Formats: sequence, C-alpha cells, structure tokens
Amino acid sequence: MRILGIDTSCDDTSAAVVVDGRTIASNIVSSQFAVHRKYGGIVPELASRRHVEMIWPVVRESLHAAGTTLEDLDAIAVCHGPGLIGSLLVGSSFAKSLSFAAGIPLVAVNHLEGHVYSAFLEERCPEYPFLSLIASGGHTSLLIVEGFGRYLELGRTRDDAAGEAFDKVAKLLGLGYPGGPVIDRLSREGNRKAFDFPRAYVPQSYDFSFSGLKTAVRNVVRHLGQTSPAQELGGGGLSGLTADIAASFQAAVVDVLVRKVEWAIVRKGIRRVTLSGGVAANSELRRRMAEMAADRAVDLFLPSASLCTDNAAMIAAAGFHRFMAGDRAGLDLNPKASLPLPSMSSEQEAPCSLESSRTVTTISSIWKKPL
Ligand code: KG4
Ligand code: ZN
Repeated sequence: MRILGIDTSCDDTSAAVVVDGRTIASNIVSSQFAVHRKYGGIVPELASRRHVEMIWPVVRESLHAAGTTLEDLDAIAVCHGPGLIGSLLVGSSFAKSLSFAAGIPLVAVNHLEGHVYSAFLEERCPEYPFLSLIASGGHTSLLIVEGFGRYLELGRTRDDAAGEAFDKVAKLLGLGYPGGPVIDRLSREGNRKAFDFPRAYVPQSYDFSFSGLKTAVRNVVRHLGQTSPAQELGGGGLSGLTADIAASFQAAVVDVLVRKVEWAIVRKGIRRVTLSGGVAANSELRRRMAEMAADRAVDLFLPSASLCTDNAAMIAAAGFHRFMAGDRAGLDLNPKASLPLPSMSSEQEAPCSLESSRTVTTISSIWKKPL
C-alpha cells in the first residue's frame, strides 16, 4: 500500500511516499527558514506564498525519489489541521486537485495524529497502549494512545507550547529563528545550573505551562541589559552568559517534560512511551528521557530527529491507518486552523506526586551567581 503524504501545516513544504504505513520510500522537506529568519518568526502570508511555489516541485521530487508514479499510489493523505490556515489551504487544495485529476482516493490526517505515528516509521515501533508526548512549536500534549484513533488526553499546555517557549527565548537572547536547535547547541557550552528558572508543575494536573518560564528569562535578560552593555546579550560579547541562560532555560523545560511523563508512567502503569514533535529532537530531552525510561524500566521509542520535526512521512503513516479503516475525504474537505485529535477524550486527575508551583519573584533568586 503506497501512500503519498502531504504536509503544509506551518512553514515546511513536505511530501513523502510511505509503504504500508511503516517504510519510508521518500520524505522531502523544503524548509522556509531562510524566508522567515529575518523576521524572527513565521510570517503566515509569506509561508502560504512559499508553499504555493514549492508544493508541486516537492511532490514531484518525492515521487521521483521513491521511484513511484501517480499510477502506483493507493491514496493521498493530506494534513488538514491544525496549523496556519493559509498554509493548510495550499496543501489541501493541491491534494484535492491531484486526487480528482488522477482518480486517487484522498484521506485527511490531523497533524497531531501524524506526530504520534512518526514513531511507527522506525524499525522498532510501539505496541498499544502507549504514552505519547507531543512537544512541538504549536502543541504540547500528553496522551495515552489506546489503539489507532483512540486517544485519551492526560494534559496539554495551558499557554505557550514547549517549542514556542524555545523560539521566544531564542529571540530574547538574539539567537534567531527557529530557537530550538540553536538553544540546544548553545546549551552544551553553558551551565544548566547557573539560573534557577521556575518549573511550573500545574497542581492536580498533567497540564503544562511555559509562559512563566519565558517571562522569568525575559526578566533576567532585561536586568542584565541594564547592568551590562546592551550589545553583550546576543551580541556575542557575553556568549558564556548567553549559553548559561540557554542551558538553564532548556534544563527547566526538560525537567518538566520528563517529570510529567514519569508521573504518567507511574500512575497509569504504561510501559511504552513515544516522543514526537520538534522539541523531541532536543538532545538533552532525549538523553534525560532515556535515563528516566531506563530507571523505570519502560520502553522508550524515539523517532530520529528528522522524523520529530514536521515531515510528510508521518502524515502518510497515519493516513495509512485511516485509509485501512475506510476513511475517505471528499472534494469538500476544508482545512481547520484549530482541530482536536479525532475521537479524543480527556481526563483531568491528580498526578501521583505533586510539587507546588514555584514562582520566582526576584532576579537574584534566579541567578545563582552574585549579580
Ligand atoms: O513539530 P515541529 O517541526 O512543528 C510544529 O508542529 O510546530 O516543531 C517545531 C518546533 C520549533 O518551535 C522549534 O524551535 C522546535 O520545534 N525544535 C526544537 C529543536 N528542534 C526543533 N526545540 C528544542 N530542541 C531542538 N533541537
Ligand atoms: Zn508539527
């Protein structure tokens, strides 16, 4: 079963051919970093225009790289949300046209379901039920996946997504866009204990919150900006200090993500865990999650970094299951900027061990070095 996957949910134009939902024949991702970098974030209108330019070359390249023609395809799986509406419209309009013109069945795939199924593209893949942490630029969710299409949401972010926090903090530090990879790299040179940034353990909940952490970083940067020459932060002058802030920030995000997953493992007795979404490419998160999984004797499934960030192979993988379940989309398919996972129920109950939320009010209590 050969499925062409298409994802244009955000700022990457991607197309892939996946066989039987498991084997990647091609996975082409055209990044728009160069378009958005100078604005310090994604400009939705520019993203849509770039998708229009790139969609056909990327799809053609994915077919070519897979040695496949349109006639060989069993279905087209397209991401129809959540995401930037203008971007989603390009992919879904293209997929509908191709489906109609070539007479190939069309399947609509939720972007988050795609992230969950990225774990099935590696040689070793999880059995049900498993715990799935999706940490991306737009979402941070912790789910129990009971079977295909059966999701129980334990928690989600109440404000910023984890990746959004990486991007905003990188901007504050003058490190450019996207923030995650650069903070990941810079953190290796910094002291993760230099600043005691807050970890928000939302009481009685598996929910996440990262906006307080971002504000704490902003306060430190502002304070240091007053006490040091303005160009020093992010200007390369105090690169050691910037690396310390980056490493301390990253440690705070990773602590919370690892701890919440650990709580869910203990409380729910689940023995398999998958990570996905762009933040799952983070080297410290991968290392710390692997240590925790070893301590708890649970099986951890970590897709390779290129399958954690947005890609169309994950859309084709999830699309395979939808197709096999008989799902079909028509030419009336309309993408949606906001779209919950299909058949998702949610549960709010107290995790097994709680730490009270910590709020840090003074800069000096965050910065462990004397000011
Ligand atoms: O899954 P993704 O490619 O797109 C969305 O669905 O949002 O995730 C993109 C996010 C961005 O916020 C980016 O900064 C973050 O993932 N990211 C990382 C790393 N690589 C990408 N965050 C931390 N460490 C990384 N190595
Ligand atoms: Zn994504």
